[in-house]
Amino acid sequence: MLDYMNLSLAQQEELLRIRRHLHRHPELSFQEFETAAFIKDWLDNAGIPYRTVGGTGVVAEITGEKAGVAAPKTVVLRADIDALPITENTGLPFSSEKEGVMHACGHDMHAAMLLVTGGILNSLRAEFAGTVKLVFQPAEEFVMGAAKMINEDPFMDGVDYVLGTHVMCHMPCGTLGVRSAGLFFGGERFQIHIEGKEGHGAQPHTAIDALLAGSAIVSNTQLTLARETNVLDPAVATICMFHAGNAPNVIAGEADLSGTIRFFSEKRRAALKGSMDRSVEQIAGSFDCKGSVIWDRYVPAVENDPWLDAFVRKAATELLGADAVREAAQLTSSDDFSWYTQNTKGYYMILGSGTGDPERSTPHTPMFTPDENCMPLGVATFVKLAVELLQGE
Ligand code: NI
Repeated sequence: MLDYMNLSLAQQEELLRIRRHLHRHPELSFQEFETAAFIKDWLDNAGIPYRTVGGTGVVAEITGEKAGVAAPKTVVLRADIDALPITENTGLPFSSEKEGVMHACGHDMHAAMLLVTGGILNSLRAEFAGTVKLVFQPAEEFVMGAAKMINEDPFMDGVDYVLGTHVMCHMPCGTLGVRSAGLFFGGERFQIHIEGKEGHGAQPHTAIDALLAGSAIVSNTQLTLARETNVLDPAVATICMFHAGNAPNVIAGEADLSGTIRFFSEKRRAALKGSMDRSVEQIAGSFDCKGSVIWDRYVPAVENDPWLDAFVRKAATELLGADAVREAAQLTSSDDFSWYTQNTKGYYMILGSGTGDPERSTPHTPMFTPDENCMPLGVATFVKLAVELLQGE
């Protein structure tokens, strides 16, 4: 039997080199030009064929050479590659060299792990049949990259399984988080526009105050959420931006609000949207304003396939030991990994990367410092799962 952990540990230096290079040179969503060029260069050197998909995305392909496997399968392994508009404050010697841009969600590690996984799988072609596709996806932080790639290129056609993993510091380094069914919530953004009429700050009766209507909508959103959401089918609705008014003595004639909803079930999503559309129109109307909602950037919930759940638990326990394979908590954040699993069995794992330092454990913050030592575990897990899914009976 192959020693997946030693194959991965032998690549630890290369993992660190790639990860640190990408960490120094982060790029924002849909601007991952140097990142994509680095990935293609690495694949060229490894002799792995690839094509460009979705502008800054890359799909590489490794074909197994094991004979005698009936109906060989196809596995997709996915990594996201984009960074965030954050100024790094970790003090790491390989900190971001780009002011205001930081790999603060671990996507540098995801890309490094997927490249090294590809290198190992390419050297193990005799061990499996079928195809492994490595998907390097842009713009996960916009939750738009997966949909763009899938819409532009048929690389998901005929794929049997899709696997992904995300580093997370709420689980310690050395552990793998697995979960049957729901892992990430779905999400959708909204923009609310309210139209009233500007007026003199001292003569409110001559104006129609859009700011006041907006304030009522902000509070009402939380009230309707509390009374209309079944607590057993939870949801979140948050208004994060509110712009109105230009001067302290002019009543605002317009207000713009935006925010996000998070949900697990599509039933909850539809109910929440219906309730917001209705209450924005009616509350704005009660102030004599016009109110409307525009919805965009929908991403479904990430739901793990039950057959893959059993398969991954067994394989990961063999590889890492029962203590290291733990039940992952459900997360109300979202990930566009869900677009790959609409017609394909999918499984998303949490790769524990916590160091125990709470100051450095929150993704999307300037201090975020996941433990690099998690990477060989992630690679070994990916390689073992891909090989065993493609080995045949
Ligand atoms: Ni992320």
